[in-house]
Amino acid sequence: MTSSRNRARLAYKVRYAVRHPDLILPYTRRLARDTWLRLRTRDHVGYYRAVMRSDTARNPYGAVGTPTHERWMALGQMQFDYLLEHGLRPQDRMLEIGCGNLRAGRLFIEHLDAGHYYGIDISPDILFSAQETLTRYKLQDKLPHLTPVRNLTLDFLPDAHFTVIHAHSVFSHSPIEVIDECLAHVGRVMAPDGFFDFTYNETAGAEHHVLREDFYYRPQTLIARAEAHGLAARTMDDWRRTGHKQSKIRVTHPGRG
Ligand SMILES: C[S@@+](CC[C@H](N)C(=O)[O-])C[C@H]1O[C@@H](n2cnc3c(N)ncnc32)[C@H](O)[C@@H]1O
Repeated sequence: MTSSRNRARLAYKVRYAVRHPDLILPYTRRLARDTWLRLRTRDHVGYYRAVMRSDTARNPYGAVGTPTHERWMALGQMQFDYLLEHGLRPQDRMLEIGCGNLRAGRLFIEHLDAGHYYGIDISPDILFSAQETLTRYKLQDKLPHLTPVRNLTLDFLPDAHFTVIHAHSVFSHSPIEVIDECLAHVGRVMAPDGFFDFTYNETAGAEHHVLREDFYYRPQTLIARAEAHGLAARTMDDWRRTGHKQSKIRVTHPGRG
């Protein structure tokens, strides 16, 4: 999970290309597409929304990182089982940041009391796919909220409301200013005993990104950002048992973790 490899370095890319020649063409296509999208958008969120639009049009399962239905189901189950082990109760009030097409959300929605799930995402296209998931799994009676957002100021949500806040594979696609914006505001909407779990790509070396789609951070950087906003944060080492390639951090109000 943790390595000091810098995937943005030319030497890494050349070594990788030699080992995986079949991936050169897809990478080149992605580079061209992403450059074009970056030139046409003003900021990271606009750019990533365009990436999601393009990816969702091709395959909504692939757009959230699991091109096959089987992997989509497995990744959702992994997130759900982890939170269940950590005591997720039907009466919890959950905010899922970057909910995608409800890969895990459908299981959270099923488990929680009606109206207790709130999913937000920057991509309207993936939220349309999320609505299809609700229909497919017959979750209409659970009345979940699904809301597109332009940023992570969370200003339309109530104070101290959410007992569980969850962001899986969202900060792995986010530059530090987006993460910082979230950490600056998440404490306001989090209940006094609530927690906020997020995953990220961990590096032990230099922080870097690939195509501004995948970002790699040291855990200390993210913990320090949370603390700078008056929150407590710690790494969740039991998440490693799942074998997922990203790491997890839990944020709470100080003294409540
Ligand atoms: C890899 S997908 C994961 C989706 C979902 N969390 C899951 O595990 O199935 C990342 C999702 O985060 C959304 N996203 C990326 N940046 C975001 C941001 N700054 N605010 C809200 N959503 C964001 C994307 O649109 C996408 O739906």
